[in-house]
Amino acid sequence: MRLLDWDHKPYYHRLLLRQLPSPCTRVLDVGCGAGAFAAELARRVDHVDAIDRSPAMIEAARQTTPPNVTCILGDVMRDPLPPESYDAIVSVTALHHLPIDDALRRLSRALRPGGVLAAVALPRRDLARELPVEFLAAAGHRVLGATFAVLRTPGPGGWYRPGPSHETMPKVLDPLLTTRQVRQHATAALPGARVRRLVFWRYLLLWQRPIDGTGGHRPVPARNPAASARRPVAGSGGGDAPK
Ligand SMILES: C[S@@+](CC[C@H](N)C(=O)[O-])C[C@H]1O[C@@H](n2cnc3c(N)ncnc32)[C@H](O)[C@@H]1O
Repeated sequence: MRLLDWDHKPYYHRLLLRQLPSPCTRVLDVGCGAGAFAAELARRVDHVDAIDRSPAMIEAARQTTPPNVTCILGDVMRDPLPPESYDAIVSVTALHHLPIDDALRRLSRALRPGGVLAAVALPRRDLARELPVEFLAAAGHRVLGATFAVLRTPGPGGWYRPGPSHETMPKVLDPLLTTRQVRQHATAALPGARVRRLVFWRYLLLWQRPIDGTGGHRPVPARNPAASARRPVAGSGGGDAPK
């Protein structure tokens, strides 16, 4: 690890926490890794299911999460997910590991009507469309990295310090899809989905399952437009930096 490196994943935890709907008692964390985000979720909701297909990651998650987190060793694309069960499905830096169309449809079926899918994941580099944000990311990464390096001089460091599982965590460093392509796939699979680029080499994908019970996959034209109105996703209009 280089001196100015810091972990971008926890930087976006608070952004995801702001997307949780109300009420929110049961959440699925997809690709939970060593369980850092599942542990944060567990302080806010009654129960968290945290799934990862890496035995080493699930073992680490079991050591670090509280009793209201069920750590599941499994493949989210193969193992059965309980239908219409979760108030929210969240994911930190794992969606780009999955075949996006199948993954989005599969996850959407596990949400209760009105439930929220919120994922932060890696886009493929798209310099033609995202050059300004790439410059901002490169500069911001170094400025914050220098700040964190100073802060960690006297001690072990805070949230920005990569965790002990960082090096061994399964990673995909060359994602298939750009932010724009993710947006195209997401809006086709889940009408109403929104995808936006975040500064530090991530995108945010947000979708709320319609409360009318259609599942959102094949929208039926509503006779009464008011009948198809959706509740807005909490906080989705805000900036990407945690407050
Ligand atoms: C880059 S890590 C992120 C881990 C964690 N969310 C974090 O923020 O530290 C991506 C994780 O997704 C998991 N993963 C990839 N494909 C998966 C699948 N099909 N089912 C379950 N987990 C998967 C990997 O094992 C890995 O732990």
